[in-house]
Amino acid sequence: MMPNRLEIEYLVSQTANTCGQPSQAEYEELEHCLLQSPRQIPSKYFYDARGSLLFEQICNLPEYYLTCTETEILESSAQVIAQLTGDCQIVELGSGSATKTRILLSAYSRLAGDRPLFYVPIDISDSILISSAKQLCQQYPTLTIHGLVSDYDMALASLPPSPAPRRLICFLGSTLGNFSPQQCDAFFERLALVLAPGDYFLIGIDCHKSTEVLVSAYNDSAQVTAQFNLNILHHLNQRFGTNFVPELFRHQAIYNSILQQIEMYLISQADQTILLPWLRQTLPIKTGEKILTEISRKFSPMDIKQQLQAKGLDLVMSFSDRQNWYSVLLFRRL
Ligand code: AVI
Repeated sequence: MMPNRLEIEYLVSQTANTCGQPSQAEYEELEHCLLQSPRQIPSKYFYDARGSLLFEQICNLPEYYLTCTETEILESSAQVIAQLTGDCQIVELGSGSATKTRILLSAYSRLAGDRPLFYVPIDISDSILISSAKQLCQQYPTLTIHGLVSDYDMALASLPPSPAPRRLICFLGSTLGNFSPQQCDAFFERLALVLAPGDYFLIGIDCHKSTEVLVSAYNDSAQVTAQFNLNILHHLNQRFGTNFVPELFRHQAIYNSILQQIEMYLISQADQTILLPWLRQTLPIKTGEKILTEISRKFSPMDIKQQLQAKGLDLVMSFSDRQNWYSVLLFRRL
């Protein structure tokens, strides 16, 4: 057996992930978003330490069917996926606490026996990446981990070479839903460039379903999603020195049936003035004004199949739950 190996590489500087001092580009991006109509806040600011914990809680909520459904699909399909792809370097975009990864790693480690397993987790949060990587190393004695603290773009441009015959890039959790159609297209374009012929791509997508089910998943009765949404304001105050008062906003999540997406907003409950200290300016916000914090698009497997086919990826197999609420799709680069 190979000795355990764990390496963490920073593609963003140690202070430039979501808890450090903002870069010039981030100041400019936030200013640009706040000046849109409706005003916007980039969703990446959900994930400070408290936001990441709240997101973990969301994943365990009864209304938030996405996580348990994806887990159930992976549990019943991981072995088949591993057999279809054979030995792979497993790359995971947005690995987080790697809970679902264990299902895949277990299937691949059964397939590999005593041979080494190669895993490349990618996350913007170094603390989550390091703690989950350490746990995985203990759990899987043949695992070699090369973690990347990075955003997806940078990571895709600098993946470590694959010691396995091919790569499997995983993008789970329906995170694709948080991309605009343009960002989605650009992501698929980049992905197709990174994958070599014969490499695989595994994606989890949340599918179309009744508005009631969707709306309650983002308006849970325990109000965890509301706290998660409002926490973005605490995070901005802490990182950018703004003076948002979260108590003066209310969480709202609606389903936009034309764009087929959940939209999360913070609605101002008062006329207020927000300080933007780096600009030495203020931002007036009226009572009832909405700030868009997230879109969560819903898909049909056929749409994704066609979009990826246009980029040179063929659908190998799709896996769904009984209600077809969620799909896990395996593609192969031609
Ligand atoms: C991370 N992402 C896939 C979640 C979603 O469902 O769009 C984020 C989330 N926002 C509110 N609840 C969960």
